[in-house]
Amino acid sequence: MIEDILDIVQRHDEWRGKKCINLIPSENVTSPQVRSLLSSEMAHRYTSPDHFYMGTRFIDEIEAHGQKIARELFKAESADLRPLSGHIADFIFLASFAKRNSSLICVSASDGGYPGIWKEGLPKVLGIKVHAFPFSKEKMNIKTDEAVEAIAAVNPSIVVFGASLFRFPHPVHDLAAVAKEMGAEVGFDGSHVLGLIAGGVFQHPLQEGAHALFGSTHKSFFGPQGGIMLADKEHGELMRRKTNPAFVDNAHWNRIAALTLALAEMRKFGAPYAKQVILNAQALGEALSDSGFPVAGAEIGYTESHQVLLDYGGYKKGRDIAARLEMANLIVDCGVRLGTCEVTRRGMKETEMARIAELIEQVVIKGREPSKVKHDVMQLASEFSEIEYCFQK
Ligand SMILES: Cc1ncc(COP(=O)(O)O)c(C=O)c1O
Repeated sequence: MIEDILDIVQRHDEWRGKKCINLIPSENVTSPQVRSLLSSEMAHRYTSPDHFYMGTRFIDEIEAHGQKIARELFKAESADLRPLSGHIADFIFLASFAKRNSSLICVSASDGGYPGIWKEGLPKVLGIKVHAFPFSKEKMNIKTDEAVEAIAAVNPSIVVFGASLFRFPHPVHDLAAVAKEMGAEVGFDGSHVLGLIAGGVFQHPLQEGAHALFGSTHKSFFGPQGGIMLADKEHGELMRRKTNPAFVDNAHWNRIAALTLALAEMRKFGAPYAKQVILNAQALGEALSDSGFPVAGAEIGYTESHQVLLDYGGYKKGRDIAARLEMANLIVDCGVRLGTCEVTRRGMKETEMARIAELIEQVVIKGREPSKVKHDVMQLASEFSEIEYCFQK
């Protein structure tokens, strides 16, 4: 029985960790050092804001350390590492500022917004109405002028930028001031692009006028799975007070120790990493387009983030393609969004993006048997087995 459990996990680790090429944009890999901190003794411990639990001196020290690096890295007055996930971070922001029966404006799920802050998600739980930003599918972005009108018409108490399908910076600079003038709180769900923001190669929402930046720490940001809140002093303090007891009890301190080290890695290596992530995404988009794939946004350079989209107009075709690619150890979502965070962290560059595009082409366009392509995928994966952009491999 124990052998079975160990065997299942080991087979997963071998397969997904060593033999596959992972292009899911919401995933990444941690460095060996960050990964080893996940098994710290801190995993067993509790703390609480009123120091109800004793024995927390090193945990408190790690928390202070992590908050300090996060504040510096994101030029934020306040940082909180306790949210257990990006979704919980969204929840903290919305619930801290939403007034019941008020309205929220964000990118709709059908335009690539995060379903968790769309109609069936948190707004429903919180009793707030949700409205869509006017959105241009061609420009793959919020329509700024029409959004000004929408904000005036809806008079929202909250505006949230950011999305799950997220290729070009949102017009925060132009819209945050308008929203604030109407009395709205302005948030930016940076779950997908947090590593690019940290690396200084995407927009900087806090400097562009958002009150808070929050999201996951494991997508383009290469930390352990979890969440983070970054904000100005006033919003940060308010959310901090609400976080415990309302949204997080035990914050999982092994995760926070690992996140603190990932923040230090990002401070040191984030700029070249994030630059290469975007160069790789653009190279992958171009190579796939040259092979005849329907890559969205050819006229506007495909992307300025870690994502490119193969536009098959829905999940049905995407699911077939994703399933076929999985048989060749090429792992994608059914969107089909392709992300370059993990392959970049493994040290791949533009040349390898051309190789990946060719492997995808062989499976999807040339109809080669996936099991035959798998060998080449495993070969490429084995050439990039080390994690880069970290202190110690
Ligand atoms: C924009 C956005 N926000 C929030 C989340 C939720 O993040 P998590 O899975 O860390 O809860 C996601 C998930 O992919 C997302 O795309």
